Amino acid sequence: MKELMDIITHRRAVRRFEPVQISESDLQTILEAGLYAPSAGGRQGVIFAVSRNKDVNEKLGRIKRAHSNPHMATETSYVSKEQPSIADDASITNAFYDAPTVITLFAPKNFLFAAEDCAVAAENMMLAADSLDVGSCYIGAGWTAFADPYGQEILRGWEIPADYYAVMQLLLGYSRKGDSHPTAKARKSGRVLRFD
Ligand SMILES: Cc1cc2nc3c(=O)[nH]c(=O)nc-3n(C[C@H](O)[C@H](O)[C@H](O)COP(=O)(O)O)c2cc1C
Repeated sequence: MKELMDIITHRRAVRRFEPVQISESDLQTILEAGLYAPSAGGRQGVIFAVSRNKDVNEKLGRIKRAHSNPHMATETSYVSKEQPSIADDASITNAFYDAPTVITLFAPKNFLFAAEDCAVAAENMMLAADSLDVGSCYIGAGWTAFADPYGQEILRGWEIPADYYAVMQLLLGYSRKGDSHPTAKARKSGRVLRFD
């Protein structure tokens, strides 16, 4: 394991993946990191639905892309030049970027802290992934991947309780060979206010 601050500063969103599956042991470690995340009231309400099915992941990723309307990038405002997002490249038709493992995090509807519970679990998992040299990307508005009859059929097949919704997806895969690790954008200044 690398040092924690090295992992935190090293982690980047990865959207270009090798077409191979991540190892079962890497997946287990990353899931354990999610299961040990904090949760509001200690309720542990998040459900982690792991899909390693290429066909399912591609279909859901396409549905998600069709239901996304991002502000498209400009020369001065973009998400990532090295690892383009759907906002950077209109030709990307799969909002899951062909990631071999897609984990959808579900949480109870009408629960005040549903999004926070999923986000803290996802960050734990992204840091664990980085420590294992597994690339990851957080995908927001997870419910849009299920916004058509095929998505609804998948939810039934996965037996997701009716009172849960898909908060987000976490993409996992090894970075494409030959890609250098993405560089972090410079940190914006003036965001820390100190009154000590
Ligand atoms: C709440 C949230 C939602 C995000 N949604 C998406 C998304 O839908 N698609 C995507 O490609 N990246 C998504 N990202 C990843 C961000 O684009 C990425 O974290 C950001 O550009 C900073 O890059 P870095 O993670 O490499 O530091 C999301 C990140 C967060 C925290």
